[in-house]
Amino acid sequence: MPAAYEQYLVPVVFRPFAEDMVAKAAALRPRRILELAAGTGVLTSHLLDIASAPEVTATDLNEAMVAFGSARAPGAVWRQADAQRLPFPGGGFDLVVCQFGVMFLPDRVAAFTDVRRVLAPGGRFLFSTWGPLGTHAFEVALQAGLERAFPVDPPRFFPTVPHGYADPAVVVADLAAAGLAVEEEQELTLQGRAASIADLATGYLTGTPVRAAVEARGDASAVRATVVEEMTARLGPGPVSAPMTAYVFRAAA
Ligand SMILES: C[S@@+](CC[C@H](N)C(=O)[O-])C[C@H]1O[C@@H](n2cnc3c(N)ncnc32)[C@H](O)[C@@H]1O
Repeated sequence: MPAAYEQYLVPVVFRPFAEDMVAKAAALRPRRILELAAGTGVLTSHLLDIASAPEVTATDLNEAMVAFGSARAPGAVWRQADAQRLPFPGGGFDLVVCQFGVMFLPDRVAAFTDVRRVLAPGGRFLFSTWGPLGTHAFEVALQAGLERAFPVDPPRFFPTVPHGYADPAVVVADLAAAGLAVEEEQELTLQGRAASIADLATGYLTGTPVRAAVEARGDASAVRATVVEEMTARLGPGPVSAPMTAYVFRAAA
């Protein structure tokens, strides 16, 4: 899964936001950075280039992601960790950063409370969530394809998980419950550029948790053909560029 995520999804969907987030991180001039839910390390490798930050610690729940990321961005210290229970002493980081990870956490208030614990005085928490599904043109087309391929009980992963924490007021309230105040909140729409819609579909079907639902159905190639057909009908075969909307928050204790 990490290899497919890295090859097909990162360049189109995640790298544009990592380039924006590293600029926001660098402006804070942090020395010790902790990254949560770092995945394959697209943001990590950018964080390592921040001149003020000699120490980057990258974590993810998934051991396979940690193995992939530590090979891709070996300048960081990599560690398997659940963002809801951080294995670090209090007060050790100037910046905690998390790109498109908090939506996966069942207990966000617990996670934000632990972020506050590990922040040094004056430290910041910088993170992003996706907007509603309808603001992400690639994933609207993907979900339509999945609903065609699975007319009964289609996978609901995309509307309910990546796009299931898409109300900024709820995010701000969860931060407040953890003792964190929002300093800046931005709605950010960037263009994703996909050379091939078929490759992008492969990334979504093999590099995300949807893979299990597709494999359970037993005929993955038929599912892929239907999804590619629907995505192509909506977006063209590629190259195609499409808008993707995120919310980016900066919070402090
Ligand atoms: C959409 S990916 C984002 C990865 C990376 N930040 C990026 O921008 O490419 C979400 C990541 O969250 C991780 N994750 C899910 N639940 C987690 C948890 N409880 N604690 C830490 N990481 C978690 C997954 O393993 C996955 O790598």
